[in-house]
Amino acid sequence: MAFPEGFGWGAATAAYQVEGGWDADGKGPCVWDTFTHQGGERVFKNQTGDVACGSYTLWEEDLKCIKQLGLTHYRFSLSWSRLLPDGTTGFINQKGIDYYNKIIDDLLTNGVTPIVTIYHFDLPQALEDQGGWLSEAIIEAFDRYARFCFRTFGDRVKHWITINEPNILAVLAYDMGSFAPGIPHFGPAGYQAAHNLIKAHARAWHSYDSLFRKEQKGKVSLSLFFVWLEPGDPNSVADQEAVKRASAFALDFFAKPIFIDGDYPDLVKSHIASMSKKQGFPSSKLPEFTEEEKKMIKGTADFFAVQYYTTRLIKHPEIKKGEQEKLDFWQDLQVDSFPDPSWEGVDWVYVVPWGIRKSLKYIKDTYNNPVIYITENGFPQRDPPSLDDTQRWEYFRQTFQEMFKAIHVDKVNLQVYCAWSLLDNFEWCDGYSLRFGLYHVDFEDPARPRVPYTSAKEYAKVIRSNGLEG
Ligand code: NOJ
Repeated sequence: MAFPEGFGWGAATAAYQVEGGWDADGKGPCVWDTFTHQGGERVFKNQTGDVACGSYTLWEEDLKCIKQLGLTHYRFSLSWSRLLPDGTTGFINQKGIDYYNKIIDDLLTNGVTPIVTIYHFDLPQALEDQGGWLSEAIIEAFDRYARFCFRTFGDRVKHWITINEPNILAVLAYDMGSFAPGIPHFGPAGYQAAHNLIKAHARAWHSYDSLFRKEQKGKVSLSLFFVWLEPGDPNSVADQEAVKRASAFALDFFAKPIFIDGDYPDLVKSHIASMSKKQGFPSSKLPEFTEEEKKMIKGTADFFAVQYYTTRLIKHPEIKKGEQEKLDFWQDLQVDSFPDPSWEGVDWVYVVPWGIRKSLKYIKDTYNNPVIYITENGFPQRDPPSLDDTQRWEYFRQTFQEMFKAIHVDKVNLQVYCAWSLLDNFEWCDGYSLRFGLYHVDFEDPARPRVPYTSAKEYAKVIRSNGLEG
């Protein structure tokens, strides 16, 4: 199974999850520093990212792993508050610039293409204190930060992700409150955050387009989380409708404005309006874009970046409180979601490799056959993990088979794949208990040694031959 020549094989990380050095060399606090330091059992065993994999001082160890794998692409994120400690360009931390310059230069020297995420969940605390994603002022702040990143690193970085999973962030951070800053709202807040996230992304894309593109010739997009959804009962019209609604909330909520026409899907608008009415809100909880904003938002991505992990079955509606599977959707959506009992899984990730093929086909058909990057995909092990993770490798191998079919049979324009993650790391509320790494990290050992899992060795073979056998 040969992949197209030049296919990108990568791995991904994110600043808060791997760097540590939470207050080193002038870094300002981010919301995850505050959230984890507050304790309260919201994170597994009250663990923190204070040290994590230590990548702030151990970057060279990460580079060794990248070289050993033979990655063509490495996706990592910039810590906003390491570069701009209070979130604004009023004070710039040169030590932060030096750190990321070294990473970028080392990657390029080794022939590895950097894919840089500008913001991956770790908002500077100073900006959260001013309202975070609930305040419109964040749009300007993000745009300034993005311009600073393009100006500082864009001579060498040609692949940008503005915002990682805004569709998860809005729900978990501002609706449910299980992610930092950790204040549950269960009202219009999540939608307000989503609205501002979309506008901030679009503004940053325009800044790149008008100020940097001509000279730097790079590409800008955002990474969207996607769970493939199938009707619980394929013969039930109600379940099919529930799938449509859930897909509209899960992906199209963000993708349609950005890739199609600057506005939310009608299904999302009408459903939220009717839920708002039922809940006694004077108007829909979902804000509206002005005509000018719609024009500004439409067409603001140069490729489609998707993160696929798993699939769910969806039933209409009857959620009995507390019984819903852990699937991070809007509260208002009201669908029952669950895995098929035959699927094997660890935590929320069930092994459904064909879901990736269907997701890719859906994106091709719905979004005008865009160039697609899978900016994340992976399968965890529970702590303590086994170095011989042959079973986990099966997940990756079957995923690659499905990608192969998507490219060759469905003619999907998939160009890059990034495994999540290069290293075991701080898995947000699950702390270090869920391990997504290709490399094992010993979090008890101050040297944080990196040791390849079987999956890493197998992945290296796939990369070397640009394909799979059989
Ligand atoms: C997506 C997120 O971007 C990443 O931060 C997280 O660790 C993985 N999913 C696994 O849950």
